[in-house]
Amino acid sequence: MRHVVHVVGARPNYMKVAPLMDALRDVVGLRQVLVNTGQHYDEAMSGVFLKELGLPVPDRNLDVGSGSHAVQTAKVMIAFENVCVEEKPDLVVVVGDVNSTLAAAVVTSKLHIPVAHVEAGLRSFDRTMPEEINRILTDQVSDLLLTSSRDAGDNLMREGIQASRIRFVGNIMIDSLLRHLPLAQFERIRERVPVREGEYAVLTLHRPSNVDDRFAFLSILRALGEIGRAMPIVFPVHPRTRARIEELGLQQWLEHVTMTAPMGYLDFLSLVAHARLVLTDSGGLQEETTVLRIPCLTLRNNTERPVTISHGTNRLVGGDTDAILAGFAEALAARPDGRVPDLWDGQTAQRIAHEMRALLSI
Ligand code: UD1
Repeated sequence: MRHVVHVVGARPNYMKVAPLMDALRDVVGLRQVLVNTGQHYDEAMSGVFLKELGLPVPDRNLDVGSGSHAVQTAKVMIAFENVCVEEKPDLVVVVGDVNSTLAAAVVTSKLHIPVAHVEAGLRSFDRTMPEEINRILTDQVSDLLLTSSRDAGDNLMREGIQASRIRFVGNIMIDSLLRHLPLAQFERIRERVPVREGEYAVLTLHRPSNVDDRFAFLSILRALGEIGRAMPIVFPVHPRTRARIEELGLQQWLEHVTMTAPMGYLDFLSLVAHARLVLTDSGGLQEETTVLRIPCLTLRNNTERPVTISHGTNRLVGGDTDAILAGFAEALAARPDGRVPDLWDGQTAQRIAHEMRALLSI
């Protein structure tokens, strides 16, 4: 019997692991173990995703919670080392670029257990982003690097990673999106947000570089004030952002914005799929809007997902008030006729399962 341990911890992880566990479910001679680090712990940030995406109840909860980067990463490392010693996995699967991803990958590789990294090779080339450090280091210690776009493979080879460790498999998050899209009807959210189908903007904002600094946050809020006069804005607020709005006393700048609690996977997919446009600093949402062909204004100066610009509907506008307003005007003037990138086809989990079976010889 082979043991595969999957690690989840934060909101953007669940939709990447669910299709893979599903694809491996019926493999004879394979036992899957789900470990939830608890980096995110609110029901709205974690529990609802486990349920809606059909993930099993985690076999292990590490309950690490919030903390500084060092504290959070160290707590996952200590707890995850015990899991590895007890479970003796033949393979550990980590996804994305959150602190839990890096912590689990480092521990696993030092125990000489193979690590597979799903969503390997993405690079923003901005080392002030904590996720960029997590990406670079996770990839260096991973044995199987599963990439979602061809540029990611190029990035890895530039960093000295052998081509034999890299597999271009496509974007697994899109497997979850395509599977759940038929359930994402506008009716799901109509009662809760006072907007008309196709006539509103969706906003998400949580990067430290945008919300921890008053000047940077205000520059975005000024643009939102203008945009809010042209079109309703719905803003499901990340807990970190809600805390900053209160600390920095910025509530009055959000009068034109409909703020809601963080949404579950299906509600949020419904909200985005029926929007006129999206404003965000999220990584995953740049990809989801590309597949949904919804214009996306990314409130950052760089992206680790350039294919969403070259192929998709994404446009980088940064955080400057005028640049955001210019991007908004352009996005309204012409609907982007984006293409869906290669292998973002809903079959990525099957391709990854194939690679993992080969690695485990089953
Ligand atoms: C983390 C990831 C980021 C990802 C984001 C998605 C890292 C370095 N960052 O950022 O890549 O885009 O998740 O959400 O791993 N909090 C709660 N309840 C929760 C979780 C967080 O109240 O369930 C609050 C706490 O005040 C916490 C803060 O949010 O200190 C930040 O949480 P943390 O997990 O450190 O980082 P995120 O900003 O969520």
